[in-house]
Amino acid sequence: MAVVDSTWSPSSWRDFEALQQPEWPDPAHAERVRARLHALPPLVFAGEARQVQAALAQVAAGRSFLLQAGDCAESFHDFARLTESGAAFSAVSIRERLKILLQMAAVLTYGAALPVLKVGRIAGQFVKPRSSPFERTPDGEIPVFRGHMIHDDAPTAAARRPDPDRMVEGYHLSASTLNLVRAFTKGGFADLSQVHLWNQAFVASSPQGQRYDVLASEIERALAFMAACGIDLAATPQLHEVDVWTSHEGLLLDYEEGLTRCDSFTGDWYDCSAHMLWIGDRTRQPDGAHVHFFSGVHNPIGVKLGPDATPDEVVELCERLNPNRIPGRLTLITRLGAARVRELLPPLLRAVAEAEHPVVWVCDPMHENVFVVNGGRKTRHFDAIMAEIEGFFAACRAEKAWPGGVHLEYTGEDVTECLGGSEDLAEDQLDRRYETLCDPRLNGRQSLDLAFRLAELMRREPLSIA
Ligand code: PEP
Ligand code: CO
Repeated sequence: MAVVDSTWSPSSWRDFEALQQPEWPDPAHAERVRARLHALPPLVFAGEARQVQAALAQVAAGRSFLLQAGDCAESFHDFARLTESGAAFSAVSIRERLKILLQMAAVLTYGAALPVLKVGRIAGQFVKPRSSPFERTPDGEIPVFRGHMIHDDAPTAAARRPDPDRMVEGYHLSASTLNLVRAFTKGGFADLSQVHLWNQAFVASSPQGQRYDVLASEIERALAFMAACGIDLAATPQLHEVDVWTSHEGLLLDYEEGLTRCDSFTGDWYDCSAHMLWIGDRTRQPDGAHVHFFSGVHNPIGVKLGPDATPDEVVELCERLNPNRIPGRLTLITRLGAARVRELLPPLLRAVAEAEHPVVWVCDPMHENVFVVNGGRKTRHFDAIMAEIEGFFAACRAEKAWPGGVHLEYTGEDVTECLGGSEDLAEDQLDRRYETLCDPRLNGRQSLDLAFRLAELMRREPLSIA
């Protein structure tokens, strides 16, 4: 497969305008770090990125559903803390996030009887795009926090000074996260016989936790039924391990360039920092550096589309990022808001269908439903999140497009960052455990609640376009 633009190279993005990049105080230092990254082993193998693209092609064809979910911003602090019982916080945090992802996937797979492709926002989600370059603090204005791969989050000007060495640290933390994800998913933790054990204590006692236990028992009965019919469960690897792939926003181009490698099998370029990468809503300019960079790598790519995205712009992005119309290569992640999704999505669906681009359509119901409550906390309401998903399904059904998946921000911790859900978290409870570095995340109970409601929605809607 030829690279479309013969002038493309991993560094040719430097000839284009790159928004949301840090100003490294010493550019020569940043260049040395990029060269260092280039000498380190890739985090993923190009063949894996091709497997994810093939799995996304199944989603594009209406035969599978994408669950892409994880933290808004991963934190370096998680790797320097112990839990109250003295365990490594990072390991516990990765395990708990994985449990929720596996639970949500079990609910969706069982509820909708569809394969669910699991992609984490994990092992590299360390950089954030921001709407404003500065932040007001009691001590004056300082540069806004852009993620731990760039600087520290402490609210002082000194902490916010960009440090390129953090890219190498981010690389190593991503490697150790990915290593544990691989160990858990391939080493028995994700075995379907463990389906009850994914229910964490603080989730299990809630109504949705109890509902999950009923579903887990049904899955066990189904397995026992298959075994009684003579199916050799031990010899069926799909029951014992799962694939959980990695993704993050490909925002910091010095880092992405440093991990871009030429695949020795195919001669194609791959960004080996993650299996899948997405371009954020703030950096998706068709003639900008991010679109140029990702047009040349062969990973599956996502693009976030906010309310300003026009049908022409979206078709142009499809042309630039997937001129050969390869199914699975391009995922469009819409984040249009509960109030406007029914109005804004249909023209985008129509334009892409008319241009005959085989994209995966995904709903991010998180980012356009943020508001600030008294006291300055950013939050989202569970009902708005569900309403955007419902609007997304309705628009897809009306335009005969496949509602291919959801893109969520959640954490395994029992945090209080999003309002509502069946526990009906109220505004005055937000302070109880509000820990996010950036956007508010669903807690474990809210995530499971959402999975059940989504499975019901998928059952209710006549989903097949295949
Ligand atoms: C995000 O996914 O955390 C994010 C900032 O998204 P968007 O580009 O949609 O604003
Ligand atoms: Co976010």
